[in-house]
Amino acid sequence: MLDLLIRNATLPDGRAGIDIAIRGGRIAEVAAGIDAPARDTLALDGWLVTPPFVDPHFHLDSTLSAGRPRNNRSGTLLEGIEIWADLVPTLTPEDVKGRARELCHWSIARGCLAIRSHVDVTDDSLMAVDALIELREELAPWIDLQLVAFPQNGYYRYRNSPDNIVRALDRGVDVVGGIPHFERTTDDGARSVKVLCETAAERGLLVDLHCDETDDPNSRHVETLARETERLGLQGRVVGSHLSSMHSMDNAYVGKLLPLIAEAEMTAIANPLINISLQGRNDTYPKRRGMTRVKEMVATGIPVALGHDCVMDPWYGLGSHDMLEVAHMAAHVGHMTGVEEMRALFAGVTTTAAAALHLDGYGLEPGCHADLVVLQARDPVEAIRLRATRLHVLRRGAVIARTAPESVSLDLGGAHRTVDFLAPQSAAE
Ligand code: FE2
Repeated sequence: MLDLLIRNATLPDGRAGIDIAIRGGRIAEVAAGIDAPARDTLALDGWLVTPPFVDPHFHLDSTLSAGRPRNNRSGTLLEGIEIWADLVPTLTPEDVKGRARELCHWSIARGCLAIRSHVDVTDDSLMAVDALIELREELAPWIDLQLVAFPQNGYYRYRNSPDNIVRALDRGVDVVGGIPHFERTTDDGARSVKVLCETAAERGLLVDLHCDETDDPNSRHVETLARETERLGLQGRVVGSHLSSMHSMDNAYVGKLLPLIAEAEMTAIANPLINISLQGRNDTYPKRRGMTRVKEMVATGIPVALGHDCVMDPWYGLGSHDMLEVAHMAAHVGHMTGVEEMRALFAGVTTTAAAALHLDGYGLEPGCHADLVVLQARDPVEAIRLRATRLHVLRRGAVIARTAPESVSLDLGGAHRTVDFLAPQSAAE
């Protein structure tokens, strides 16, 4: 006896008329015309079913704090860091957990069931670390949280960071973070990359550095990160987040750099909403976009995932934690409006992001966790175009969030009809 049989789904790879059988919280079978008794049935009328969205780059400790103690007037990364430094001493565990929990509920409602969150370890009390470790356990039935030890004020630039990172990892933080472009000198930045990668190698952990988040084309720490990844045998375990300086580098250097990143089997994470907002602030016109070279990296075969980074915090005042909004922005900022390119961006907020996090049991194959999202769309491109309604969100086979389908009633001089914005050829009968 199945626990649930989902009928008539369309999958991201285009297969239509598919049934998904679920037993014991896992996917038992994916095929057309499954004929087996089930306790429950969910008939879908051809809606797109995808594994859940994954946010591979976020900051839960600062989220939903926008305006405290003041707004970011310049809109720059550096003013954001100053505001955050003023806010940190006033935070309490209840405050951090309350805001982060609320954001996770928004995330679940939007069909995102895994978040990698950086947590600032330059507060010596490690209060936010403890609060988010507790929240990780509290919310584990519904969402996977992965924490990165992130020295916001620098690894060498803030003298207690080396100790604090080790203490945070000892307490159960999952991933080693860093911020080499923020160190006092290029040399300090390179040394920080080396020692952070060594720490990860010794402990068998993953690496995810904020790397080259600047418009300065001479910020080339990603090169060191690729080299250290190879030297220490960390292939497949290292992420370079942001990589914004690559936007401003010259093509000759990038032509050398991309093969090095590919060779090291690194994943790049772009944060299009944040980088289009924070970068280029010192430019007049033309203004740089500041997003890393997603299009070129995808073409080179480098896995590129997309992160939300911030929602309503000192760096970014907007957002509702919608990973389709992230992919939508990436398509625009990155000139990636071709169908195959948009499908790659959909993967950037689902499968590629899940691979970067080394998530267990993620996917649509038999044996995977029955974690699924039903979208009011027929394919990934339509999902991005509409930031489609998440009709059902399933965790381990149980529906944990529902949203009514979008349908607008028009009354045009007595003539009534409804509009759902679906492409005409795919509109529901
Ligand atoms: Fe970040």
